[in-house]
Amino acid sequence: MQNEANEANQSNQASRANPAASATCAGKHPAPPCTLVIFGAGGDLTKRLLMPSLYNLSADKLLDDDMEIIGVNHGERETSEWRDELTQSLRKFAADKAATFHTTQLNEDAWNWVVGRLEYFPGEFEEDETFARLKARLQKAKSGNVVFYLAVGAHFFEPIIKHLGAAGLLEEKDGNFRRIVIEKPFGSDLASAQELNRCLLEFAGESQVYRIDHFLGKDTVQSILAVRFANAMFEPVWRREYIDNVQITAAETIGVEGRGRFYEQTGAFRDMLPNHLFQLLGMVAMEPPNSFDAESVRDRKAEVFDAIRPLTANDVVLGQYEAGPAGPGYKEEPGVAKDSRTETYAAARVYVENWRWAGVPFYLRTGKRLTERRTEISVQLKAVPFLLFRDTPVDALTPNVFTLRIDPSHGTSFDFNVKVPGPVMQIGKVRSRFNYADFFAERANVGYETLLYDCMLGDATLFQRADSIETAWAAVDGVLHPDSPLAVHGYAAGSAGPAQADQLLAQDGRTWRSLTDTQKKD
Ligand code: BG6
Repeated sequence: MQNEANEANQSNQASRANPAASATCAGKHPAPPCTLVIFGAGGDLTKRLLMPSLYNLSADKLLDDDMEIIGVNHGERETSEWRDELTQSLRKFAADKAATFHTTQLNEDAWNWVVGRLEYFPGEFEEDETFARLKARLQKAKSGNVVFYLAVGAHFFEPIIKHLGAAGLLEEKDGNFRRIVIEKPFGSDLASAQELNRCLLEFAGESQVYRIDHFLGKDTVQSILAVRFANAMFEPVWRREYIDNVQITAAETIGVEGRGRFYEQTGAFRDMLPNHLFQLLGMVAMEPPNSFDAESVRDRKAEVFDAIRPLTANDVVLGQYEAGPAGPGYKEEPGVAKDSRTETYAAARVYVENWRWAGVPFYLRTGKRLTERRTEISVQLKAVPFLLFRDTPVDALTPNVFTLRIDPSHGTSFDFNVKVPGPVMQIGKVRSRFNYADFFAERANVGYETLLYDCMLGDATLFQRADSIETAWAAVDGVLHPDSPLAVHGYAAGSAGPAQADQLLAQDGRTWRSLTDTQKKD
């Protein structure tokens, strides 16, 4: 009963937000027909995320029968080989209990629907000839709508965009759409992000560009807005008068997973902070939008990034893992220089300088090879103002903390105080938890389903706009190009990060929420 009520409610919310979204729930409206052209057909992203997403969308009957999927990659091979390879990898992920896409029962019909539409298209990403052939192929496509998905290394972004533009493949004619989906990293600093935006906008309109941040594909991230704006109890306290600080954590236990060469150029700060963590910050800090249409939501989020006080070296702590309980140090990883100064951990203090948030620090941290895998947002409320319980000083009361648990545990937790049972008035801290799994059927979603579907529908709400990308980079640019190099502090692999990150909060009289508290029981 309770579940039914919740679901009905959810679908009401969805329908108010976006008429197409309510249709999604009912499974009635497939996306319009289109040809999906994936650059990087042989890459990891295609295997790990795009194919499982297409499978899930197919299982939900949200793809049009006239859809075609063309995978472009260098190297000759038969379509049948590509299909076999993707089938094998999908089965492998489905069987892997640790994979996001773990499922005990593959829907063979749904996968066969996808497989039957896959076509391998050999071609170099930087050669005119590839695009001339692609143009000829697309002229024969069942639909004039095309989504170009750039599932390739960042160095291929500009060449592919320029070739698509030069071949006239981005021109929208006869009511058909031409869209580009572009993955992170979107630039490596303000100047490179501006350059990439310039390149994109030379050949396409902003409405044709879908910049992905995969965190926005997570249900638990999208739910931040639902929690804030579909409940009466949060918004009144969601402001500087009641909130002491907000902590946003993306802690990982994995290392760089064989991506040493990429990571050496990137580091934890660029990899996570101005993109994934800022997106979470944006969802937590934005003003209520007038509606859930793409521009209202993106305008409100853009205002948050615009209000961020540019970070300085004093706001940031960097770290690199060394040998510890979880294994060898970063410098021992393949592809990593023996004297590398690349950070695998970054913490930052961020201020959003506007009426709602003035003076409230947002502490952000992310790192590899930490003691726990945990992505969460903890909103810590101020202490109560008055000492009512004589034997419990106010400052000994545990502050209320509302935590949105994004991954791997999905839900929310609320820490508050109650009376300890017994004859004396004694105050004790308790935690109340909501777990998604207790209310909703778990789905083997990889997070790209909504993003792909929305792109085909033309709903850009969950994608990043050029201006937001640039304001986010602008906020951190001073730290990326410091007058003198920032220190990179060591931390043991398997620990909670460098001690200097604790000092960052200690300077403000605060502490990080523990990475090893009882969340596991959630
Ligand atoms: C990616 C980063 O964008 O996000 C990775 O490049 C990181 O380094 C990953 O591990 C984290 O995403 P998730 O969804 O696993 O938390």
